[in-house]
Amino acid sequence: MAVTTGTTLDARTLRADFPIFEQLIHDKPLAYLDSANSSQKPRQVIDAMSEFYETSYANVHRAVHVLGERATAGLEGAREKVRALLNAPDVREIVFVRNATEALNLVAYSWGGNNLGPGDAVVVTELEHHSNFVPWQYIAKRQGADFVMVPLDENNELDLSGLDQIARDFNVKVVATNLVSNALGTIHDLGPLTRWAHEQGAIFVCDAAQAAPHMRVDVQALDCDFLAISGHKMCGPSGIGALWGRASLLQAMEPFLLGGHMINSVRYEKTTWGELPHKFEAGTSPIVEAYGLGCAVDYIEAAGLDAIEAHEHELVAYALGRLSEIPGITLYGPPADRRAGVVSFNLADIHPHDVAQILDRQGVAIRAGHHCCQPLMHKLGVAATNRASFYLYTLPEEIDQLADGLYTVRKVFA
Ligand SMILES: Cc1ncc(COP(=O)(O)O)c(C=O)c1O
Repeated sequence: MAVTTGTTLDARTLRADFPIFEQLIHDKPLAYLDSANSSQKPRQVIDAMSEFYETSYANVHRAVHVLGERATAGLEGAREKVRALLNAPDVREIVFVRNATEALNLVAYSWGGNNLGPGDAVVVTELEHHSNFVPWQYIAKRQGADFVMVPLDENNELDLSGLDQIARDFNVKVVATNLVSNALGTIHDLGPLTRWAHEQGAIFVCDAAQAAPHMRVDVQALDCDFLAISGHKMCGPSGIGALWGRASLLQAMEPFLLGGHMINSVRYEKTTWGELPHKFEAGTSPIVEAYGLGCAVDYIEAAGLDAIEAHEHELVAYALGRLSEIPGITLYGPPADRRAGVVSFNLADIHPHDVAQILDRQGVAIRAGHHCCQPLMHKLGVAATNRASFYLYTLPEEIDQLADGLYTVRKVFA
């Protein structure tokens, strides 16, 4: 792979690492503009996982044989890579889960289930993915707590002007928000919200599912208490994600899932829990998936997270320019320098599913739908949008292919 430094990224060379691009789709080159949904995987990750299965696979933590030791080293090595990626103070604070959704559910159930009650409030924003909305809405209701939403202003930015009123009306215990919006690409300045949360004595939960693939995420600089990521969005395999949590909070929490591996001792009368992070990793781990995530971390670190972010800003600026020339288009979201590689749009009154289907015939893969953000869609006054999203392997000509495809869509519906 091409190793780059600073803010230059050789997307064309990196792209050659991704076997998926070696095929034609409907006899056209593949323009894969759906990376915010799930990213493609480089050969380095695919091959490393195959090799692991072929040479090092066994169950972890339980075996004294060589393969058990190798597999355990692979899993724990990956945990250290995720710790370093997030600048977490302690490797025991990295809990492997299936995905960001599971990480957020873990916090909602295990922390919220024991710390929320009548008179307390959970605060989320109108721009949350359902994964950081529904678990909190559910647990707040179940615990008799209030569920409060920070609204968006007319520019679809977080409107923090009502925070003082929320502080007067509620005993805020949790503030949960994303760092990068999957639907609009907005990169939030979370500083004011984090400070406000901590002034209220609340925990701050950061959904970094869309941030970690695209920019440097530092849990200490963010001053959050919990943070969730998904491996499949950052060049890693599906079925693996991570929760980072402050050790003091994780230690005080009840486990989420119960069974093998997460215990200290089991007696008829009483079971005690194991140490971090094992207390939250019941059952056999996603061993090779975790190892693959570690390899993906190596890959994006070698490409350079600053370089990836700069590359996406350039692509977004180019895409906004190209798409804004198309008659009838409505673009949603902030200026290019404040968003990750996401462009959401609607084309006249053509249903996004029709747009996406016609684009697919031209080799262009985008997502159409509500993007698991129905509160946002409600605010925008639409049922769905189209979303093109970019990553380190995205090339400007894919955006040209998208723009050309949209002209074709217009002709079809003329
Ligand atoms: C901002 C955000 N949060 C959470 C999630 C959930 O991720 P997963 O489906 O991997 O659990 C997504 C997925 O699209 C997302 O974009």
